[in-house]
Amino acid sequence: MGANREAMLAKLAELDAEHAKAVAGGGERYVERHHARGKLMPRERIELLVDEGSAFLELSPLAGWGSDFAVGASVVTGIGVVEGVECLITANDPSVKGGASNPWTLKKIFRANQVAEENGLPTISLVESGGADLPTQKEIFIPGGRLFRDLTRASARKEPTIALVFGNSTAGGAYVPGMSDYTVMVREQAKVFLGGPPLVKMATGEESHDESLGGAEMHARTSGLADYLAEDERDAIRIGRRIVARLNWRKAAAPVEQPYAEPDADPDGLLDLVPSDLKEPFDPREVVARVVDGVSATNTVAFDEFKPLYGTSLVTGWARIHGRPVGILANAQGVLFSEEAQKATQFVQLANQTDTPLLFLHNTTGYMVGQEYEQGGIIKHGAMMINAISNSTVPHLSVVMGASYGAGNYGMNGRAFDPRFLFTWPSAKSAVMGPAQLAGVMSIVARAAAAAKGRDYDEAGDAAMREFVEASIEEQSLPFFLSGMVYDDGVIDPRDTRTVLGICLSVIENKPIVGTDRFGVFRM
Ligand code: COA
Repeated sequence: MGANREAMLAKLAELDAEHAKAVAGGGERYVERHHARGKLMPRERIELLVDEGSAFLELSPLAGWGSDFAVGASVVTGIGVVEGVECLITANDPSVKGGASNPWTLKKIFRANQVAEENGLPTISLVESGGADLPTQKEIFIPGGRLFRDLTRASARKEPTIALVFGNSTAGGAYVPGMSDYTVMVREQAKVFLGGPPLVKMATGEESHDESLGGAEMHARTSGLADYLAEDERDAIRIGRRIVARLNWRKAAAPVEQPYAEPDADPDGLLDLVPSDLKEPFDPREVVARVVDGVSATNTVAFDEFKPLYGTSLVTGWARIHGRPVGILANAQGVLFSEEAQKATQFVQLANQTDTPLLFLHNTTGYMVGQEYEQGGIIKHGAMMINAISNSTVPHLSVVMGASYGAGNYGMNGRAFDPRFLFTWPSAKSAVMGPAQLAGVMSIVARAAAAAKGRDYDEAGDAAMREFVEASIEEQSLPFFLSGMVYDDGVIDPRDTRTVLGICLSVIENKPIVGTDRFGVFRM
């Protein structure tokens, strides 16, 4: 086995272990207690909700990684197909702190709501939550209001919202069913009230009981908050599926129904491509050949490369994935020069002219620095590329394969530029610059500051500082850490790239794909 494959397989094993933590929820004791109560775990609920045999594209599974909170942030989010309709699904994990929402839960749900909004998807909330995580309430109470705002704005955009309530949904949480278009509650399980019996007692002195205050039957027969009373969890899921079946859902963009061939090269080879030392370049055409549709009667060339002789450290060209057209921009040699920035700008404009989605494959250390390049206008050319991708209105997908450093992260459509989806390979690294370079810059600056003050420089202190900074920046550049911060939609096995992108390209067809001819002022 080659060294690259060995290193990638080791990273994939680590990834599996981290995903397993998210699946384990609050741990064996809490999962057992939950099952003993006759209840299903969030992923079990989702599995029953989505169409049999269909894929569920989970988003942000590592949210909260590296924080004090459980990996996964006590909620599962993703896109699943229900009665043939692609829906955004969120499901609280009641085995983690009663399903209470912590700051990472909020970040993860906000991201999920953004996915629903940008792609125009119906939302299904599988509710069972202790509301706000009380010890961190200061970080979630005020911004958390957005959850309810997002739900009703989705409804106003005619993107249906459905709440299936399996358990506790109190206080602010009561507004999830409250703001949804359709609400289903499970008999003797759902509890939806603004204040539970102890709070009511404190507020007004009234004695009350869970069922009469907020039980499913009361809401179905008396308050009218529940549209459907489900006999049990499976019944609630069945009713949820019937609601979706009656939405009369039609995708905005007509799907491109092209027959397609599997890639010309075996995707398994993706494990061999990325060197562990990202300073070594690799040819992104090898990635493209393993991700895009192969040659067939309707696709006589798998990848039509554009401007192959110009700006050669960025590869651009046209291809199809699962029969759907894409324009691809992929870093080849790491550094972006003025030529690459100009080529990218033109290519993004061309994709907008033809309403073609774009795919960015990152492996860049950023734009070239140095006198020659500054004088050649590298800033204005980089700005031109960033202008193009910022104002482009065709959907963008990003995959961080290797390095994604400095302004290169911006030009290649990093998270801040709102690609519809951004996934990361376990080999990725992203930061303002490489750890050694960053530590070196800090050392040069400190040395100059000491000299300016006429002080001796503490060489031993400098070495310790460099070592510490290098190690911490290295850690913060790694995919689990960045995924924990919800700076991507997930870390994926390179071999799944084609499937994941194929799902994304289908999802984006829920909204019309319309390119723009309006960009900011280009500095030529
Ligand atoms: N914030 C922080 N931690 C919470 C929490 C919350 N809102 N709700 C529950 N937890 C914790 C519990 O302290 C417990 O922690 P521990 O096991 O480490 O001691 C763990 O989550 C499980 O809670 P438990 O009460 O044993 O679970 P349950 O399934 O029997 O009941 C609830 C779950 C949600 C019904 C119950 O915990 C509850 O009523 N929580 C408070 C709800 C509330 O009023 N929230 C305020 C909304 S703004």
